[in-house]
Amino acid sequence: MNLVLLGPPGAGKGTQAQRLAESDGLVQLSTGDMLRAAVASDSEIGRIAKPIIEAGRLVPDDVMVAMIDRRIDEPDCANGFILDGFPRTLAQAEALDDVLRRKSRRLDAVIEMAVDDGVLVERISGRFSCANCGAGYHRQFRPTAEEGVCDRCGSTEFKQRPDDNEETVKTRLAAYHAQTEPLLPYYRDRGVLKTVNGMAAIDEVTAQIDTALGTLGG
Ligand code: AP5
Ligand code: MG
Repeated sequence: MNLVLLGPPGAGKGTQAQRLAESDGLVQLSTGDMLRAAVASDSEIGRIAKPIIEAGRLVPDDVMVAMIDRRIDEPDCANGFILDGFPRTLAQAEALDDVLRRKSRRLDAVIEMAVDDGVLVERISGRFSCANCGAGYHRQFRPTAEEGVCDRCGSTEFKQRPDDNEETVKTRLAAYHAQTEPLLPYYRDRGVLKTVNGMAAIDEVTAQIDTALGTLGG
C-alpha cells in the first residue's frame, strides 16, 4: 500500500506515519526528516535546504522530486510507503504521478488530516523527539511513560527542531495554505482523498485512518 499523509505543520503526519509504519510494515518517507539529515551531514542538498527550512519556506520542487524518486527505488519501499510531507505543491504532485507511473506503482490513498490553525502552534511548541531513535512526543499530549526516558529505545537524550518557533510556524502555515492546500481538490478529483479529523486525540485519529484504509478493500 502506498499512502500520502497531507496536513499543515503540526497536524500529526509524523505521529501517524510512525504508527502506520509499526502496525502495517510500511516505510515512513518524511521529506522533512530527510532534509534535516542532509543538513546535519552538511551535504550539498543540506546546504541548499538549511536557510529555507529555517525561514519556513519550501525547498525547490526539483530537489524534492529527485530525492523521492531515488528513495522509492530502495528495497525497503517494495512493500509500500507512507509519504509524510510530500508532495507539497501541485508541481510535486504531478511529478509524483509521473515517477510512480514510470515505476508501475500508484497511490492507494491520500489521507488529509484536517486541523484548525488555532491548535497548531500549541502542538508544535510542545513537540520534542528522541535524539537517538527519532520517536516523537509532546509535553502535554504524548509524554514519555517515564519522565526523561524514550519509550521506544530507552535513550535519555531529546531534541527540538530549530524551525519550531512561533515566527517560522506562521510562515510554514502560510506556505501550507498557499501551496499545499490546492492538492486537496487535485486528489479529490482523482478519487483517492480520505479526510480524517486531526483535531481528535492521537489514538482516535489512528482509528479513523485504519477505518479509512479498511474501506480500500485490500
Ligand atoms: P516537515 O518536517 O514535513 O514539517 P511540517 O510539514 O511543518 O510538519 P511537522 O513535522 O511540523 O508536523 P507533523 O504533521 O509531522 O506533526 P507531528 O506528528 O510531529 O518539513 C519541515 C520543512 O522541510 C518545511 O518547512 C520545508 O522547508 C521543508 N520541506 C519538507 N518537505 C518538503 C517538500 N515536500 N517540499 C518542499 N519543502 C519541504 O505532531 C506535532 C506535535 O503534536 C507532536 O508533538 C505530537 O506528539 C502532537 N500531536 C500529534 N497528533 C496529535 C493529536 N491528535 N492531538 C494532540 N497532539 C498531537
Ligand atoms: Mg513531521
